[in-house]
Amino acid sequence: MSELSVHHLLGIKYLKESDIQLIFETADHFKEVINRSIKKVPSLRDITIANVFFENSTRTRLSFELAEKRLSADVINFSASQSSVKKGETLIDTVNNILSMKVDMVVMRHPNPGAGIFLSKHVKASIINAGDGAHEHPTQALLDSYSIRERLGDVAGKNIVIVGDILHSRVALSNIFALKLQGAHVKVCGPKTLLPKHIESLGVGVETNLRKALEWCDVANMLRIQNERLDISYFPTTREYTQQFGVNKKLLDSLDKEIVIMHPGPINRGVEITSDVADSKQSIILNQVENGVAIRMAVIYLLASKIKQ
Ligand code: NCD
Repeated sequence: MSELSVHHLLGIKYLKESDIQLIFETADHFKEVINRSIKKVPSLRDITIANVFFENSTRTRLSFELAEKRLSADVINFSASQSSVKKGETLIDTVNNILSMKVDMVVMRHPNPGAGIFLSKHVKASIINAGDGAHEHPTQALLDSYSIRERLGDVAGKNIVIVGDILHSRVALSNIFALKLQGAHVKVCGPKTLLPKHIESLGVGVETNLRKALEWCDVANMLRIQNERLDISYFPTTREYTQQFGVNKKLLDSLDKEIVIMHPGPINRGVEITSDVADSKQSIILNQVENGVAIRMAVIYLLASKIKQ
């Protein structure tokens, strides 16, 4: 297969396994490009991309912008806090105004689940979801799987545990879809209050004992408590959460194998993982960030080639 089955990247839910493999093969090529002394290719010289961020972001926004620039696309950036959204403009009006300036692709982060799906039905541009509320964050899941494949050779057949705030995490849902599609075994682990009620229906196991989860897995993906999305208290204190669900070096060293540690960032050092774990050789956190650029270049390149047709 040489083209994606979709015109937008709205969620992993809409992808096929072959789409993921195509994105990975394309990212392999771009990873080689960004490690050259001249890190740029002219592939998207005729494409204009708007990064439209209605929610805070550091690495995702920078990673998209760098990916776009490495592909030689024209880039415009828009952040909601400095925009007319504050004056009462609707999402469709905001984006249609941007598109009338001849924009081909919109990378959007939005606090509302489904915002990208909604937009894709109303505007003429290719949409990439850069995180929609607690719903999906497809490029994060792609770069996570790509980083597992890089470290362990393959994703299929591997045991992956996702630890923490599964209920409010778009990283968790997109990872579950991506990992299952590639044939990994997935468990979620966290306080019962932060595990969605019917999560098993997605084909994942549930484990509330962190040590047992770590003993089972090849990879632990540690998530941040999404404090900005907590309307009520889901656990007694942060200290208690850390005692039960935080990973420290002593715990890792007491396991009978060396597991891989991941984190999408931003890390709350000392809460979900200690600094000695985050900075250890078991951690692939910075590889995830590096791979994010290659993965986003691949996604943008493959979607742009569908626009041109
Ligand atoms: C994640 C996000 O924004 O959903 N971060 C990211 O994109 N790198 C995870 C998080 O905020 O905890």
